[in-house]
Amino acid sequence: MMLARSTLLRRSRLLLRPLASSSSTTARPLTAAAGGGWEKSYEFILAERKDKVALLTLNRPKALNALCNGIIRDLIEATTHIARDDSVGVIVLTGSTKAFAAGADIKEMKDKTFVEAFSTNMFEEWGQIAKVAKPIVAAVNGYALGGGCELMMMADIVIAGENAKFGQPEITLGVIPGCGGTQRLVRAIGKSKAMELVLTGGMIDAKQAEKDGLVSKVVPTETTVEVALEMANKIASFSLPVAAAAKETVNAAFELNLAEGLRFERRIFHSLFALSDQKEGMGAFVEKRKPKFTNT
Ligand code: CAA
Repeated sequence: MMLARSTLLRRSRLLLRPLASSSSTTARPLTAAAGGGWEKSYEFILAERKDKVALLTLNRPKALNALCNGIIRDLIEATTHIARDDSVGVIVLTGSTKAFAAGADIKEMKDKTFVEAFSTNMFEEWGQIAKVAKPIVAAVNGYALGGGCELMMMADIVIAGENAKFGQPEITLGVIPGCGGTQRLVRAIGKSKAMELVLTGGMIDAKQAEKDGLVSKVVPTETTVEVALEMANKIASFSLPVAAAAKETVNAAFELNLAEGLRFERRIFHSLFALSDQKEGMGAFVEKRKPKFTNT
């Protein structure tokens, strides 16, 4: 299917605004001194600024960061505000040393009826995390199971600690993954390996996850967050609209066929010549100096 020129132009214009969700905010130029308001107390997460990076820590340790409605609500609120904060380039999402997150909260959902699950479109709102325009780096130690693994797969890059364990154990509970485990996992590690995890409910360790391409690198457990922050600050040193464009264009590979994907990539590439940051980046190379990106 050919994309209409108007569709492509609309998509490239959309790239130039940092939306948390394509439907949740109004257009806002990246240069506006917008945002803030996310560095505050939440019930279930900690939110701190680390230079140009927002560090979000799931903070429900007694329940191994089981993803109750409250955690998801806090995450969506924080990421929505961070998406509008032009001083933040990247989000790092982490949990505790024992658990990134041990899945959706089983106690909270065990008595739900079909009608409740269906009529509230249970878990649909989790998808907002995947729509955040800024890059997200997940720093994963300990268990990333069920919804925890699925939340992790909504991030763009995963750094795993040596003690990390991944799995989709839903089948052991009489259900299937409900937040992308049957879809993103297949795209990440292929059908046979994904089927094995989904059908046996078993786990893989960090080394295996790296071999399978589920995570980008494995580091000593005590350094996971530090390594993720270092990588995130490097990404955040580049032009924010260019990073958002890169993220959206790579993610388009999961939605489009090759011809459409290549066309989309080329059009986005063309659109970046409207940015001062393109002139600055290429000019700095030619003048043999460090570029100073202004996100314009
Ligand atoms: N939901 C609710 N509570 C959870 C939980 C979850 N997913 N995972 C752990 N907890 C709670 C435990 O109930 C326990 O609470 P209490 O102290 O009140 O009993 C506490 O966290 C500590 O857990 P354990 O005592 O079980 O810790 P452990 O070290 O012995 O075992 C574990 C760790 C192997 C991760 C084990 O807790 C476990 O198997 N958890 C459930 C994993 C799971 O099945 N996840 C999938 C959930 S369904 C889902 O996610 C659907 C989806 O697609 C979105």
